[in-house]
Amino acid sequence: MPVPRPPIAYTAYRNATFPYPGVAADPHAPLATVVRMTDETCAVLRGIIERRRDVRAEFTGDPLDDAVIRDLLTAAHAAPSVGNSQPWDFVVVRDPDLLSSFANHVDECRQAYADSLTGERRDTFNPIKIEGIRESGLGIVATYDPTRSGPNVLGRHTIDDAGVFSVVCAVQNLWLTATAHDLGVGWVSFYRENFLTDLLGLPEHIRPVAWLCVGRVSKLQETPDLIRFGWNDRVPLDQVVHHDRW
Ligand SMILES: Cc1cc2nc3c(=O)[nH]c(=O)nc-3n(C[C@H](O)[C@H](O)[C@H](O)COP(=O)(O)O)c2cc1C
Repeated sequence: MPVPRPPIAYTAYRNATFPYPGVAADPHAPLATVVRMTDETCAVLRGIIERRRDVRAEFTGDPLDDAVIRDLLTAAHAAPSVGNSQPWDFVVVRDPDLLSSFANHVDECRQAYADSLTGERRDTFNPIKIEGIRESGLGIVATYDPTRSGPNVLGRHTIDDAGVFSVVCAVQNLWLTATAHDLGVGWVSFYRENFLTDLLGLPEHIRPVAWLCVGRVSKLQETPDLIRFGWNDRVPLDQVVHHDRW
């Protein structure tokens, strides 16, 4: 017999503007009033986790409604963060000139990486697309602000990286929510941080963490691109699980 699970309060969604079914009538009602945690909910979540893909070639370029973008950002902003510091900002980039400048820079970085490869690795890498910056028509740049929440962030005094880890949690929330909306997300890391800082006029203390291409897609691949193109493979779970000691 499946164990019934209690409803979980999604208070972070209290101010969500996206019209979720059942919440549309009262946009200020917590989702907890309509979402009950069941085995079916777990299966849906697993389905979303497994369906999520890093998208490069499948963007259609169709524009997204502001409400959908807002929903993605609301999910990102609900992420866990060290000391509840919420050290992220999000820059929503739609200007075609900015997209084009960034794409040109990424092309150069891709070429530099290709040039560093030799033989079979180079041949395998060559056909792999590593971004959909122009095609998606939308970039969401997640950044890290180490000054957010003051100088004594609870829990970051021992592990400074915990701040950036928090931003990555926000990215994953956005990614999964986009998947639930049938959208694609592609994380681009082939860039020099100072280039992106200059391009977007980021303040000096703000670190860019991720450029996310976001948009409608013709389909989501079932198999990750790097596997399809023979770059590498997934590692079996049992190979990475250790008990008590490494
Ligand atoms: C931190 C990070 C940086 C990444 N950078 C890139 C990138 O620059 N270009 C790219 O095509 N994919 C990038 N990816 C996507 C990975 O290649 C992808 O997640 C991986 O191949 C597994 O595929 P999947 O996400 O579809 O499961 C990045 C992913 C992460 C988490």
